[in-house]
Amino acid sequence: MLLLSTFVVALAGLGGAKPLSDKRWNDVSVKHRWVEIPRGWEFHSTPPEDHLLEMRIGLKQNRLDELVSALYEVSDPTHDKYGQHLSKEEVDALVAPHPDSVEAVESWLQYHGINPADAEFRSAGGEWIVIRVPVAQVERMLDTKYGVYYHAASGSSVVRTMEYSLPTELLSHIDVITPTTYFSTLRSMRATSFLQPQTAPLEDAASFATDISPLAVPASCGTTVTASCVRALYNTTNYVPAATATNKLGIAGYLQEYANDADLQTFFKQFLPNAVGTTFTHVQVNGGLNDQSDPGVEANLDIRNQFAEAISFPTPNIYYSTGGSPPFQADSFTPSNTNEPYLDWLNFILNSSTIPQTFSTSYGDDEQTVPEDYAVSGGFWYVMTNLFMQLGARGSSIMFSSGDEGVGGGNCQANDGTKKVIFQPAFPASCPFVTTVGGTTGVNPTVAVSFSGGGFSRYFAQPSYQTASVTPFLNALGTKFAGLYNATGRAYPDVSAAAEGFQIVINGRVSGVAGTSCSSPTFAGVVSLLNDFRISEGKAPLGFLNPLFYSTAKSGFNDIVSGSNPGCGQTGFTAGTGWDSVTGLGTPDFLRLQALLP
Ligand SMILES: *[C@@H]1O[C@H](CO)[C@@H](O)[C@H](O)[C@H]1NC(C)=O
Ligand SMILES: *[C@@H]1O[C@H](CO)[C@@H](O)[C@H](O)[C@H]1NC(C)=O
Ligand SMILES: *[C@@H]1O[C@H](CO)[C@@H](O)[C@H](O)[C@H]1NC(C)=O
Repeated sequence: MLLLSTFVVALAGLGGAKPLSDKRWNDVSVKHRWVEIPRGWEFHSTPPEDHLLEMRIGLKQNRLDELVSALYEVSDPTHDKYGQHLSKEEVDALVAPHPDSVEAVESWLQYHGINPADAEFRSAGGEWIVIRVPVAQVERMLDTKYGVYYHAASGSSVVRTMEYSLPTELLSHIDVITPTTYFSTLRSMRATSFLQPQTAPLEDAASFATDISPLAVPASCGTTVTASCVRALYNTTNYVPAATATNKLGIAGYLQEYANDADLQTFFKQFLPNAVGTTFTHVQVNGGLNDQSDPGVEANLDIRNQFAEAISFPTPNIYYSTGGSPPFQADSFTPSNTNEPYLDWLNFILNSSTIPQTFSTSYGDDEQTVPEDYAVSGGFWYVMTNLFMQLGARGSSIMFSSGDEGVGGGNCQANDGTKKVIFQPAFPASCPFVTTVGGTTGVNPTVAVSFSGGGFSRYFAQPSYQTASVTPFLNALGTKFAGLYNATGRAYPDVSAAAEGFQIVINGRVSGVAGTSCSSPTFAGVVSLLNDFRISEGKAPLGFLNPLFYSTAKSGFNDIVSGSNPGCGQTGFTAGTGWDSVTGLGTPDFLRLQALLP
């Protein structure tokens, strides 16, 4: 407030040159305000006034309803438009803002001395404007004060604010501005995987390189999950991909993650000798690096590329490395890129006219790290969800891991000031337009793994495609956990796959890893083969999968009927017959799914 008044006084001092525009832009309303600093973060210092922020303005998309309808039409196997995905130009037209929104935002920028033509980036549809502005000026534009906030657990520092305002006139034209009140960085997010103690002395286990029959999967695959195990478990062992000239699988990597080619070759040699020599394509997004000498701190990425390759081989895999600058230094006056890598990656992909038919990515965060009031009506997750929607409309299938904390990690207290304990749904797992993959363990029986993320969104309403499957689960639950979860929210996970004992190669050594980060690329590998089959038959790829999975293809999954996902000091949901919020519809049987495809 103090800043705004100073600014108004300064302008008044100019002799009232622009009284009309003063009124137009100085009548402001709060867009979002935190009651308390988001969990895990603390105020550190005031950023230098000339610290440059990359201000990203997301304009309201004018024909969003049409995009939603189009997405559902092309994804519904009973609709006559099934598979008729939209081109880049068609999607760009549907996400474009109304000309009035463009006019209003550009006038506001001009009022602040910013020439819209100098924008660093404008998306093809026009819904994104990215400009580089010193923090002091952003503070005037958004009537706020920025701080440097520190996340001790990950060592991340970001420049963010506890609240921001917009001219009242712009509230209906702007969905979101970043960086503002969204605190997470990919470093502070939980990478959904963790190393396990070695489960078997693999170096001398030549047998791991041989095929396993899907008719008799050995019990050892329940604890020591090799490439041959997942191929057998999900019944892809005998499928030979036939559309490898067209079909592609995309894998998203973020800051400081580099897919390691040498480890992939060692993995093939050890576990899948036929694939030795197969490499993946590296694509650098916004200055992403491909540093082969530093293969990333997370095992995450190795799982993604090794297990996605293990199933989809020889389908080309594309590894996207999204850049970003080093963590913010409080005493540095150099421009620092405070981008959201997710947004960079999605904007990069959506700017290409041809995109991979299948994607796997594995990070997640608590839904409540973003402002509830605008997650649905415009805001960071809302905007992200629109981007996933665009990928689906273009014909891509997107897989996300469901998270590794069951119904919620930590103390599960709400961050609205009440400190009430509630289950903590994860995002993007809770986005209605991605396919969320939970975790299982064991063979005969296969059961839910106890950390499998699952629950009900507090932001996104339950999509109609899942109502018939989710209702029996809710009915059986009755009043249990009432008040801890939102029964009308989007329910997840949708499906599941193995999540423990994965044998991957990191820095030349075989290591055991666990996490739903194992489940998501494994499932994506199966989807990639289903896409291969569709394409080889001259048909469109599957695109957004959920409407198909919850209807025609439902019987292509092996139902997982025991196990639970405790968290928040509660026993968690229980897996049972039919859909459940621990393992979703179950694990995939490729051959059955293939037979059920439209
Ligand atoms: C694989 O498919 C065959 C033929 O449908 C079936 O008999 C077998 O049980 C399946 N195996 C697994 C692991 O799903
Ligand atoms: C989008 O694609 C066009 C055409 O390929 C290219 O000229 C432009 O630089 C791209 N923009 C971004 C931000 O990647
Ligand atoms: C439940 O979800 C709906 C959206 O489906 C939302 O409007 C509502 O506020 C949520 N309720 C609670 C208590 O979280």
